[in-house]
Amino acid sequence: MNDALLILMRWLHISSVVVLIGGVIYGRLVLAPALAPLADQARKETWDRIAAAFRGWIMAAVAGLLASGLYNLLQKTNPPAGYHMVFGIKMLLALHVFAVGFLLGKPGVEEAKRTRWMTGILFSGLAVIAISAYLRWMSR
Ligand code: HEM
Repeated sequence: MNDALLILMRWLHISSVVVLIGGVIYGRLVLAPALAPLADQARKETWDRIAAAFRGWIMAAVAGLLASGLYNLLQKTNPPAGYHMVFGIKMLLALHVFAVGFLLGKPGVEEAKRTRWMTGILFSGLAVIAISAYLRWMSR
């Protein structure tokens, strides 16, 4: 039973990462250049619709990450030396991703700002994934 829950929570964690970080990277690297040729007003309206459609998924992914991440953490009964320090760095970057992620779900944001925010999540998100791979290696 515990194993099944562990696998389920791991699935929830990875799936939430895919939705949040994958969605933002798609926005920054694919949608932004694809929408660039549109007229200013049409582009603004399209980004507002994208933000409104993505908003619920951002909330769901953050909730999924918090619940599954906390569960994963509580399963680490005997973490190696240095684990909590690296985990703390991961949390700081994850908080940045969450905070900017919430902002991204808002309509009416200036376009240059939205692009900067997506770039920020792209780098922080990939850094968090790299740190998580290291955490996994530490506790192997
Ligand atoms: C931007 C947010 C986050 C991203 C991108 C992220 C990404 C990841 C990834 C890719 C893994 C490796 C999954 C695996 O190999 O099973 C992982 C593991 C983990 N995550 Fe997260 N995570 C995020 C937020 C959180 C939060 C908020 C928590 C805690 C509240 C958390 C706690 C953990 C723990 C404890 C592990 C297991 C590490 C280990 O194997 O020792 N994560 N995370």
